[in-house]
Amino acid sequence: MKKTIPVFRQMVEKGEKIVYLTAYDYLTAKYVEKAGIDMILVGDSLGMVTLGYDKTFPVTMEDMISHCKAVRRGAPNTFIVGDMPFMSYQVSNEEAIRNAGRFVKEADCDCIKLEGAGPEICERVRAISGAGIMVMGHIGLTPQFEAQLGGYKAQGKSVDAALKLMDEAKRLEEAGAWAILVEGVPAIVGKAITEAAGIPILGIGAGSYTHGQLLIYADMVGYYDNFCPKFVKVFSHVGDELLKGFQAYAQEVREGTFPNDDLHAYKIDPEEAAKLEALLKEKQK
Ligand code: KIV
Repeated sequence: MKKTIPVFRQMVEKGEKIVYLTAYDYLTAKYVEKAGIDMILVGDSLGMVTLGYDKTFPVTMEDMISHCKAVRRGAPNTFIVGDMPFMSYQVSNEEAIRNAGRFVKEADCDCIKLEGAGPEICERVRAISGAGIMVMGHIGLTPQFEAQLGGYKAQGKSVDAALKLMDEAKRLEEAGAWAILVEGVPAIVGKAITEAAGIPILGIGAGSYTHGQLLIYADMVGYYDNFCPKFVKVFSHVGDELLKGFQAYAQEVREGTFPNDDLHAYKIDPEEAAKLEALLKEKQK
């Protein structure tokens, strides 16, 4: 059964961890749901993991909606968070509400996520949640603010920076976010934000104390091999398995052992086969 926001709040109260994972397509979402993962993020990391960009910036609303729909088809009973891509919410409240609405209306997402906690972003959070759409905030290492952060670097590494993050979390909560994702901060900072919060705090690279954990699925199954952040644990080796399969297939086709016509071909009635062979022989004369 699909977990809802009240269920996530109860889990936090009971000290049960929320398990959160990304997915970008139908088939992966199906396995994620089968594994009993509580919550799926269709992240704009789609850009790197699935579309082959080196950043999230080029990802469009159309990309996100199409992949969110596929994930929903694969995971009909899982809470899905749709990630608002760069420039889909920055321009105005009206544009932000309209785009957030598309995630819910067209792709059946349960909530949207957006990055940042400056005054304009808090205004967007207020506007979107005011329109009845649940919002997850995202602070810390926020890839859409790469230029301002000076690259993909851990955040909150000084007292001032940590206090600033705690303040950002409070402001998002006050603006109406129902949960916050904290990315790429020292464990002590993840803990401080979690202890001070009145809403669920999910972490990715934010230590063990947060109410839940997120990872990018392609990192934790050893599939995405361009780069692997320090905080990732690799639980399986899908990339190696795919490679093994692809190489074995190529070898068998080249040496003529695949397909085996007894095992991998359609059958024909022997009488029809004999007639066909006779006819073809006749034609050759
Ligand atoms: O797009 C995404 O997958 C994200 C995570 C990196 C947190 O926002």
